Amino acid sequence: MFVVFLLLLWGSLLFPPAAYYVWMLMRIRRRNVSVSVNFAYQPYVTLIVPTYNEATVIAKKLENINELDYPENKLQVIIIDSSSIDGTLDEVKTFLNKTNFRFQIILLSEKERLGKSHALNVALKYSAGEIIATSDADSFWEKDALKKAVSYFADPSIGAVTGKEELINLRRGVYTLSEGVYRKFYYNLRLGESIIHSTLIFQGELALYRRTAFEEFEDAPGYSDDIGTVINIVSRGYRCIFIPEAIFYDTAAFSFRGRLRVKSRRSEHLVSGIIKSLKLKIKGRLPVMWRIIFFNFYLHVISPILLTLAILATAILYFVNFNSLWFLGLFFILLLIKKLRVFLISYITGNLALILGLIPFITGKRSNVWKKVDEMRLKNYNF
Ligand code: GDD
Ligand code: MN
Repeated sequence: MFVVFLLLLWGSLLFPPAAYYVWMLMRIRRRNVSVSVNFAYQPYVTLIVPTYNEATVIAKKLENINELDYPENKLQVIIIDSSSIDGTLDEVKTFLNKTNFRFQIILLSEKERLGKSHALNVALKYSAGEIIATSDADSFWEKDALKKAVSYFADPSIGAVTGKEELINLRRGVYTLSEGVYRKFYYNLRLGESIIHSTLIFQGELALYRRTAFEEFEDAPGYSDDIGTVINIVSRGYRCIFIPEAIFYDTAAFSFRGRLRVKSRRSEHLVSGIIKSLKLKIKGRLPVMWRIIFFNFYLHVISPILLTLAILATAILYFVNFNSLWFLGLFFILLLIKKLRVFLISYITGNLALILGLIPFITGKRSNVWKKVDEMRLKNYNF
């Protein structure tokens, strides 16, 4: 009886996500995102980079922006700092003094740190772009990423566009490799969802929004600027899509602690967004297929809970029938295979982070101010 229950439990962890993945792969194979892309369309863009204690990377970031392939009179850059205490603004000023910066640039400073979304909203008041782009101090764009992403806005149905992350330090260790595994799975889902209509999961490291499609970035506690805002835009009827050809570079945490810290905070944002999308769908205010909302809810909220139950139940069964030592042995032998180990670490840490991300949601202690993970800022960037 108990064994049947266990098999059902593991089955319910395996089959729904696998079914969703296969469905998305089929969509990707069958057609492209049906949008009329136009490279001649080059509207005025405002790129906002919010910073809090980013002195180690901000000069590199500005250098990267300066290399963007976009007309000089069509890009405005806004750096908004929230009273960093590591000299971020000095770094910006020193850089600008010795560089011929090609685009218009505005430096803003908030007296108090109230989180990333708050900072973006302050910057929004100074923005002149028809398209508002966001990026982070620690992420770097391919030269053509902006041009490619903007071209999709020639189609009036598009409300927002996000790009693809490449990990700079992918091979650093098992934790960075397991982030790579997660990303691969994740991107096929995002692409399939975008082909059907929209993906609700965006990345603020490279995100572009049509100015007329939203008033402000979502700033409610527990939500993120990217996912939170995109859900609002989709609920207004626009399509919000992931385009793999707009590439940005970012780092992954390489320690267990770092990985869990960053993933659990991102998960809090993810879970808030997914629960909100479910609520909006129930009210009939989200033009995204029910199946997509359901599977995302399953993957991000149900699965982590089921996995915890499955591990506990398996452990109980194991200790009751202690004679099955060969099983444990087999498990450890399998772990010697690096690919399997990485996959397992990715799966377990990902789900653990989702459980941790659910806690603030339940306890009501939600926040959108977070602590920087230092190991994700490299001294030397090579990409
Ligand atoms: N001005 C300002 N004020 N900027 C901030 C604040 C703040 O209070 N907090 C964070 N930032 C800036 C950071 O300096 C960085 O440029 C950017 O926001 C992202 O912060 P990271 O610490 O690099 O977070 P991440 O790599 O996990 O970011 C990812 O998740 C976030 C949501 O959880 C990205 O997808 C972000 O775009 C996303 O907002
Ligand atoms: Mn970052």
